Parts: sequence; C-alpha cells; structure tokens
Amino acid sequence: MNIALFRQIRAADGAFVPLNQLVGSLAEIDELAAFGFVFERHPIHGLAYRGPSPRLCPDQIEFELGTNVVGRRIAVWNRVGSTNDLAAKAAGSRANDGLVILAETQSSGRGSRGRTWSSPSGSSILISVLLFPPKSLDDLGWLTALGAVAVAEVVADQTGLDPRIKWPNDVRVDGKKLAGVLVERGLGTVLGIGLNVNIAEFPDELRDLATSLEILLGRPLDRTEIARSLIQRLDFHHARALLHGPESLDESYRARSEHLGHRVEVFTSASGQLSGNLVGLDLRSGLTLETDADRVLVAGREVVSIVNRD
Ligand code: BTN
Repeated sequence: MNIALFRQIRAADGAFVPLNQLVGSLAEIDELAAFGFVFERHPIHGLAYRGPSPRLCPDQIEFELGTNVVGRRIAVWNRVGSTNDLAAKAAGSRANDGLVILAETQSSGRGSRGRTWSSPSGSSILISVLLFPPKSLDDLGWLTALGAVAVAEVVADQTGLDPRIKWPNDVRVDGKKLAGVLVERGLGTVLGIGLNVNIAEFPDELRDLATSLEILLGRPLDRTEIARSLIQRLDFHHARALLHGPESLDESYRARSEHLGHRVEVFTSASGQLSGNLVGLDLRSGLTLETDADRVLVAGREVVSIVNRD
C-alpha cells in the first residue's frame, strides 16, 4: 500500500489535494479505499481525507516506524485466542525479539489475576510484544510499569487527556480503567496491553469501572495511529533502559502515578494494611510512606494494591 500517498492526503487536514499533485496513482487510491480509508473525490478539486480505516493497517504502522527492537516484526491478526499466547509461541526463535502481535479480537483474552479480557471486535488495541530482555530488565513488575507508562504517555500525547497509573497495572482516567497490562514469562517474556479505544458504551456492570477513548472524547479515533505510537513509545523506554538501566523509567512512572503525593491506603502481602502519605515511589525499592508514626519503605513486590484516600 502507498502509505506516503495516504499521509499526503491526510496531512491536508480535510482540504482537497489536486490529482496532479498526488504522490501516487489512482489505482493506489483505490487500493487504500478498498482497505477502508475514507476519501472524498471531487472531479475538479481532487481528493480529501475523511477518515481512517476501521481496520488496523500493518503498512501504516510499519511506515517509517524507526524503532530499535519493539516492532522489528509486526503481525496483525483478525481473530486470535490471546495475543499473549501467539507471541509466546514465537519464543522458540530469538530472531523474534521485539515481535509485535496485534489482533482485532480475542476469543480468550486474559486479564490479570485470572480474569478474562474481552472487547468488541475492531474496537480496541490488543497488543503483545515478545521480548528477550537482559536480566536487569527481565522483571515482571518493571515490564508492567513499562507497558503502563507507554500507554499513559501515548494517550496523553494524542488526546490531551491526563491518564494515571493505578498500581500496578491499570491506566485510568477519572478513576475508570482505560487500559491494562499483563506480562507473562515463558521461553521469552510477553508484554500484553489492552487499551479501550472505540467502545461507545460498556455493559451496566462495567459502566462505573471502565472507560474508552471514544467515551472520553466523544468521537472514535484512528486505532492504527495509536498502535503505531504505542510501539514507538515502548521501544523508546526499552532502548533507554537498555542503555541507562531500569531506573531510567522511574521519573516517567512517577509523573503518571495516580498515587504519588496523595494520602493512600496500601494493601500488602507481608505487613497487612498501611495508611499514610505516599512521598516516594521507586520501581526498584518500592514505596515510601509517611504514616502518622514514621517513614516506612514498602517493597514493590509486597504491594497488592493502593487506594487513594484523599
Ligand atoms: C488487566 O487485567 O488489567 C490486564 C489486561 C491485559 C489484556 C491484554 S489484551 C492483549 C493481551 N492478550 C491477552 O490475552 N491479554 C493482554
């Protein structure tokens, strides 16, 4: 597909581009239109961009992607069991480091804590990345944070919303879940993300708990463009951490934390429930909590959940 042509028409921002200025042929326009991109044709003025394809477009993702590891190979599926399973199956070969699997729908999508993850076909971003991280980065907590930071930053950049990360793996807006991260380890390590994009409404039982970009912005979005930015963002943080160590993610995580600087209740596996002001958050050493009595350091792996109380 001629993505340079698609980009040229889209860059005109709804204005018509004369046919004699197009960087491609009419046959290539037809190919883009057949994939689902929406154009308006005018006999004199030419062609104008009217909307994205409802399908995830692998060519649009790969065009000038410029990543180091994440997205070195990309596969887009219509229907899979779980993108995490498919990525894990490719772990027999190290050449698949950075492989990205995307799907329009999953028949057995997994959430964290044994829950399922389901979303209407063609509505969301369901993505898994296969990685073979060095020991310093092969930590489920750190990789979960990587996924959450990347989603939160991409959503903030592309929409102006202010997503926050609820420990450990939820990306939320106004207290409702927009995305979740599930990292699983087998032969390789798979980082899976589900991001609710074009879901117009949720069933009653989820309405107070979950949200989507369409609900928050009142319009559907180009999922392919979001998927592309997400791959670039994951790669950026991954590459920086390869060079400078896992601590390089800390500042970005802190900037998007839902809890830092708030009065919180922390539920831990080792020392029960603790209340206080969360004054420090570090992905390696954990949380620094100022309780009424003193300052406590809680190891991240002991933290089950955190709830804001202010
Ligand atoms: C959570 O419960 O918050 C984690 C949700 C993770 C869902 C994603 S969707 C893509 C990938 N494939 C799966 O089966 N799960 C993850």
